[in-house]
Amino acid sequence: MAGDYLSFIKELPRSFSEIGAMLPSSRFLGRHMVRPIRQASHPLRILEVGPGTGPFTRQIIELLRPNDEFVICEVNPRFLERLKSSLRSLSGYERNSERIHFFQGPVQELPQEFLGGGFDVIVSSLPLANFSPADVEAIFSLFEGLLAEGGCITFFEYVGVRKIGIPFRSPSGSQRVRQVDQVVKKWCAQAQVSGSIRRNVSFLNLPPAISIELQLH
Ligand SMILES: C[S@@+](CC[C@H](N)C(=O)[O-])C[C@H]1O[C@@H](n2cnc3c(N)ncnc32)[C@H](O)[C@@H]1O
Repeated sequence: MAGDYLSFIKELPRSFSEIGAMLPSSRFLGRHMVRPIRQASHPLRILEVGPGTGPFTRQIIELLRPNDEFVICEVNPRFLERLKSSLRSLSGYERNSERIHFFQGPVQELPQEFLGGGFDVIVSSLPLANFSPADVEAIFSLFEGLLAEGGCITFFEYVGVRKIGIPFRSPSGSQRVRQVDQVVKKWCAQAQVSGSIRRNVSFLNLPPAISIELQLH
């Protein structure tokens, strides 16, 4: 655990815009992020994007059932190497290792071999507030295309991050963040109309975060 914090903090100077957080997420936020996996009553194909040091990955692995399949995609090679070795000690990993797959690279380049029949659950930690509005739009479109029928996406945002951050940003930075907000809201509105949306606030996370679960269709 302390090791997770240290390796996370060590990565910040060289990869801050990709990481977009100061600390790993808490297990309390994790419980909300993995809710669709806990609730499922049929075998799942699960994709986790941006596991970092693995606070959600460990919870997912302990929830895996005999016919589930789990693909882990992380752009940062040092996080992924560390994660692979830390997961080995989990009993859930031992039981399911043949159905757990790793991809080191951006989710935008996820190889065909992992796509299969689509994913039932996508758990994403991508730091959307650090991306351009066009990239965020492209990521949601990509996730929509990767989902199996009836599948859902969970992601999180820090509470108030856009409003609190605005005084410290350049005018163009503030405008970018507002545009990203519009893109996220548009996808949430779409889910509200043609699928479903569920939000949960985790105050026991630093900083507090809202997890959002979207079923788009
Ligand atoms: C906010 S951190 C979250 C880490 C961890 N899930 C947590 O909640 O503590 C975001 C993670 O996304 C990864 N990441 C950023 N862009 C990515 C991309 N295009 N594809 C896959 N992973 C990406 C970063 O390397 C980092 O590990």
